[in-house]
Amino acid sequence: MVLFDLLKKYGSPLYVYDYEILRDRCNKIKNFSDDLHHGLPNDIKVSMHYSTKANSNPAILKVVAQSGLNVDCMSPFELEIDLKSGFSPDKMLYVCNNISGEEMKFVHDNGILICLDSISQVETWGKIFPGTDIIVRINPGTQGVGHSEKVITSGKATKFGISEENLPQLFEVVKKYNLHIVGTHQHLGSLFLNDKIDDYIAGVRAGINIVKKYFKDIKIVDLGGGFGVPYSPDESPLDLSLVASKLLPVLKDFVLEYPSVKEFKFEPGRYIPCESGSLIGTVTAIKHENGTWWICTDIGMNQLVRPSMYGSHHEIKLVYQNDNVNRKTITANFCGNVCESGDILGKNRVVKLSEVGDLVVVANAGAYGYSMASNYTGRPRPAEIMIINGEDKIIRNRETISSLMENIVF
Ligand SMILES: Cc1ncc(COP(=O)(O)O)c(C=O)c1O
Repeated sequence: MVLFDLLKKYGSPLYVYDYEILRDRCNKIKNFSDDLHHGLPNDIKVSMHYSTKANSNPAILKVVAQSGLNVDCMSPFELEIDLKSGFSPDKMLYVCNNISGEEMKFVHDNGILICLDSISQVETWGKIFPGTDIIVRINPGTQGVGHSEKVITSGKATKFGISEENLPQLFEVVKKYNLHIVGTHQHLGSLFLNDKIDDYIAGVRAGINIVKKYFKDIKIVDLGGGFGVPYSPDESPLDLSLVASKLLPVLKDFVLEYPSVKEFKFEPGRYIPCESGSLIGTVTAIKHENGTWWICTDIGMNQLVRPSMYGSHHEIKLVYQNDNVNRKTITANFCGNVCESGDILGKNRVVKLSEVGDLVVVANAGAYGYSMASNYTGRPRPAEIMIINGEDKIIRNRETISSLMENIVF
């Protein structure tokens, strides 16, 4: 079906996912896992936990499950949707930050291993569940890797994890409640590409050195996510076999020196759904003001927040209703329909002049797109569809004004 027909059928804007691309990225992560597994001694497990926060649509989660991958979740909603999408508790990990005792009970009652990221959280857990297994999140201390300061989660300036100097205090709390630290966790940040693999490896080395120095007999080392995808045409795809070849010597040496470790976990989020998803919208106005062309669309910061939140680049393509027009080439800014100057989708794009009613296709919207969308200014979130064997399948209905009204008490 052509894009214009899809938008007529499901409304504009619309999230569209390509099953084949999604499946391919799951396979690539599975191969990465197998490469690591085959390079390590036989008894060492390698587990890939897809990070649900990137995209929690069950249609995506089911493909992840069918590909033999596990998941991590970070909220009761994500936990429930993972269970409903076919993951058993032993395939799940709860990686949280600053949660209540009540939420901890929910995780415990569902039989899911928890990763706690401060001494204070370990104390809260220990009081409720003494004598149980936990994973603790460490801050390896090295500068993290990520596409924006807002997603760098290691180093001195982050709210995440327990730093080396505070580990003695952690061990006192662990002893007080007779807890068993079965593993450590670290996550350096979100989105590294080939030029930052060495920084990622430096962070892995730093974390492993902390494990060797302070932790006794742990079984699991979780190295988090961060595996990037190219958003701009001048970026290359992450070479996962290069990541594996640089990781393996570090992990091999480690298991020789530290034989209690039996499992490495990873938490790829973005890598899996990002490139399978596009957000398609409609041109609603064209302006030329103060020397600047504006192509105005119905894709606001409420539908895709990454450009305005992080200054992220997304490729934007125009699909014209009328192909037979001679159009001049312009440099334009793309914006949305939210009343904020920051509601910008892309700046300084060289395109052929467009008209109201043309379509815009925003690429790489499959991760941190719908999952970060909001109802700001009271706009319903779009529908989501998946293209499978050339057929469009609805996987989430568009919200409606009445569904937004549902919980309001008048
Ligand atoms: C703890 C943790 N694990 C995994 C991820 C997934 O990261 P990414 O989508 O960059 O792979 C995140 C995202 O920020 C995270 O906070």
